Amino acid sequence: MKTNIVNTASGKANVSALFFVKKSVQFSNVLSENAVTQVESVLNGMKDGPFEDLELLEIDGVSTIFVDAAKERGLSALDHLRMSAYRLAKRACKRQIPTVSIMLADAAPEQFKSILHGLHYADYKFDAYKSKQKDAFQVTFEIVAGEQVAEFKKIAEEVAVEHKAVVLAKNLINTCASDLTPAEFVDNANAIAKYTPGLSIKVRNMKQLEKEGFMGLVTVGKGSSHEPYMITLSYDGTKPARKGAAKVAAKSAKIADKNARTSADHLVLVGKGLTFDTGGLCLKPPKSMPEMISDMSGAATVLAAIQAIATLELPIKVSAVCCLAENAIGFKSVLPGDIFKAKNGKTVMVDNTDAEGRLVLSDGLAEAGEIGATHIIDIATLTGAMVRALGYAVAGFFCNDDDLGLKVINCGEACCEKFWSMPLEEEYADALKDKFADLKNTGSDAGAIAAALFLQEFVPENTAWAHWDIAGTAFVNKTWKYTEYGATGFGVQTLIELARRMSKADEESIENDAVVSEDEYKVC
Ligand code: BES
Ligand code: ZN
Ligand code: ZN
Repeated sequence: MKTNIVNTASGKANVSALFFVKKSVQFSNVLSENAVTQVESVLNGMKDGPFEDLELLEIDGVSTIFVDAAKERGLSALDHLRMSAYRLAKRACKRQIPTVSIMLADAAPEQFKSILHGLHYADYKFDAYKSKQKDAFQVTFEIVAGEQVAEFKKIAEEVAVEHKAVVLAKNLINTCASDLTPAEFVDNANAIAKYTPGLSIKVRNMKQLEKEGFMGLVTVGKGSSHEPYMITLSYDGTKPARKGAAKVAAKSAKIADKNARTSADHLVLVGKGLTFDTGGLCLKPPKSMPEMISDMSGAATVLAAIQAIATLELPIKVSAVCCLAENAIGFKSVLPGDIFKAKNGKTVMVDNTDAEGRLVLSDGLAEAGEIGATHIIDIATLTGAMVRALGYAVAGFFCNDDDLGLKVINCGEACCEKFWSMPLEEEYADALKDKFADLKNTGSDAGAIAAALFLQEFVPENTAWAHWDIAGTAFVNKTWKYTEYGATGFGVQTLIELARRMSKADEESIENDAVVSEDEYKVC
């Protein structure tokens, strides 16, 4: 797929595409008067009758695809646009239409962004394991943007970066577990850090983890022949060295001079990275096992997100911690009933070896605290209970901070990723207490809540924290929206958007602070 953003239609496209939101004509400024009349009569004729997703009609002598972006139940207006753009691209590819002209001169930036994302989704295929790889037909989309050309070009660059991150996460998640061991994941992360300016990486192996007391990862990972690792990726967009961040940093420095303080937000993303989860000695049933190649989705999501955040040079400090292990059966596997001491000093009895995600995440949360997180988001395919509660379309999240919780929901909405707030129900906390150890790794029947309450025991003090359980949304077994089968890339875009909005809030508060400080200075 190729996109050219142009002011007016070149007239060279084989087909024009018109997106109709709520069936109103929005394209009067890119269509001739005659065409507008024709379009209106077509739409009037279709008002009561069935309206196919894509109608191909002759308008003004040009083959025109009518894209109905106002259909499906449950999807937001922006998601309708994504869906319809996705379908349009699939159809154009199938029909081998070389160039499609999309009339978007009236579109709002977020509508344009959604359409672009939809086109990108249609481009994805994972055929690394097929004996023969087929070249997909290349469609060029000429996007007619009118006076918004410059603005749309900038958005297109951002969407390309975001979507590259989505593809990275999906490829990692779809790769089978024997080809993506913890060590292979580390190799990928090293390569990404090497080629992404501003991104640094620290890797701890089993020996170092043990020495430093990250015993959750050691306990889970020691049963496998593939040793566990922890990766910490760091990016500081508030440093003057970063081009895009220079303005903010200069402001920070100005304030620092006067008030001896700078913006202190440090967003740390923690990802569950089980490259495979057999369940350990509490073995999973065969039916639910193959999907466990996706149990490293959290780690892939945070790696992809920080790669994009650094590439976009967002003016904020962000780190990503990947907790990588394989939950396997071996002669060194953790035994049910074993007790270990976690990094924060709490002792944990392993009641069920299949509840391993929360154990490795205890180390990720500890690392987040050690590197000075002010805000933590942990992302994990954590519980089957979450799949049963919310299915594949909505991720449940738990949060100890209202402001962060609201941001998660709003950013998700902007990215067409749905989040539902779940309770950190204190009444179930006692069920996590163990007779010998401080805690055990299973709790009440409310499985997703029990897991979140367990994680809360390891959240550093005075830190805003949200836990996303993406067990249902990370991987689909049937076609869902713009994913045919496999990894969805869920969460990558919301994380990027969260960093973007947090950095803007920072920028604004610095600006406001600066004004206040200066006023105060004058008064004094
Ligand atoms: N990785 C699974 C959770 C999961 C289930 C992810 C389905 C994706 C799809 C997790 O490690 C797990 O097995 N959790 C157990 C915990 C239980 C033993 C307390 C579960 O939810 O069944
Ligand atoms: Zn498990
Ligand atoms: Zn798991």
